[in-house]
Amino acid sequence: MRITLLTGGTSSERDVALASGHQIVGALRSRGHEVEVIDTALGYVSREDEERLLADAVRAEPPSIEKLRALERGLLLKGLAELRAVKEADVLFLALHGGSGEDGTLQTLLEMVDVPYTGSGRLGSAMAMDKDISKRLFLQAGVPTAGWYMAPVPLARVEREFGWPVVVKPSKQGSTVGLTIVKQPDQFEAAVALAGQFDDEVMVEQFVPGRELTVGILEGRSLAVGEIIPRHETFDYECKYTPGMSEEIFPADLPDEVARECGRLGVLAHEALKLGGYSRVDFRLTPDGKLFCLEVNTLPGMTATSLMPQSAAAVGITFPELCEQICRIAQRA
Ligand SMILES: Nc1ncnc2c1ncn2[C@@H]1O[C@H](COP(=O)(O)OP(=O)(O)O)[C@@H](O)[C@H]1O
Ligand SMILES: [Mg+2]
Repeated sequence: MRITLLTGGTSSERDVALASGHQIVGALRSRGHEVEVIDTALGYVSREDEERLLADAVRAEPPSIEKLRALERGLLLKGLAELRAVKEADVLFLALHGGSGEDGTLQTLLEMVDVPYTGSGRLGSAMAMDKDISKRLFLQAGVPTAGWYMAPVPLARVEREFGWPVVVKPSKQGSTVGLTIVKQPDQFEAAVALAGQFDDEVMVEQFVPGRELTVGILEGRSLAVGEIIPRHETFDYECKYTPGMSEEIFPADLPDEVARECGRLGVLAHEALKLGGYSRVDFRLTPDGKLFCLEVNTLPGMTATSLMPQSAAAVGITFPELCEQICRIAQRA
């Protein structure tokens, strides 16, 4: 196949996207595919520039808002449709995370160009990016999710309905950016203000104690359920992208019925959001065995050691096979 990889972008997860892109390129070339690379913030990436751009490690923190804003000024999104590598590709592989690459904006553009692209369509992408909309659809589909309010919400109500701690987060972000676990009332306003720097919609969610689980979904079927044991209290940016900062166990050590239920709910959540191709669904498992869906990631991290590839590997799908399968699904859609 002639595959053009779209990576980089201008979201907080830019570095992560470049890391995914780097490994996907290697995997697809190892399977004999012709791969070209485009950074959606900077444009066409030549073979010589690939190493320098893609091989850079993910740092402990996301790029600064200033750096991202500067990149955004050069945003290529509108001119993307004109590039030969886009128009003539058999498939566009989206190695992008967060922002306009994951939230349905790019997907809308690509639908107009009429070239197959990997992952979910514009509507599903947009709905999954919005945690408020996602949770409404989860509940309607019978997927349990923690109680929540959208800010502004009176402190007294939060205290009465949820108690402490509560989780305050931007409704449309990723990588735990702008998220705070608020343990006492006097931290609440600051947490809402912080989350508000990343999104005009802020969510206040009931804290779910217990274990952190995730499951990959590929073409409507669940892969292996995994458990994540972060070194920090939450599965934050540093734990997500620094080797050794979290332990990841695939398949998770769970009673069969819990693993099965997690897979079933994962598929339901994927379908409730009208997703396609592949996704990764995150859950919390309480000490008394109840599952709560946190969110669905429509373009989950895709380095060979990321959670989605580990979920696939645990059922016998290698990383290059996974990348290739994701392309083939896109072509058929
Ligand atoms: N309601 C919650 N209860 C407990 N932990 C939470 C809750 N919401 C988020 N977290 C923690 O924060 C991490 C990131 O939250 P998540 O909702 O998945 O947002 P993101 O899109 O940033 O990944 C989760 O993986 C989990 O560790
Ligand atoms: Mg998450």
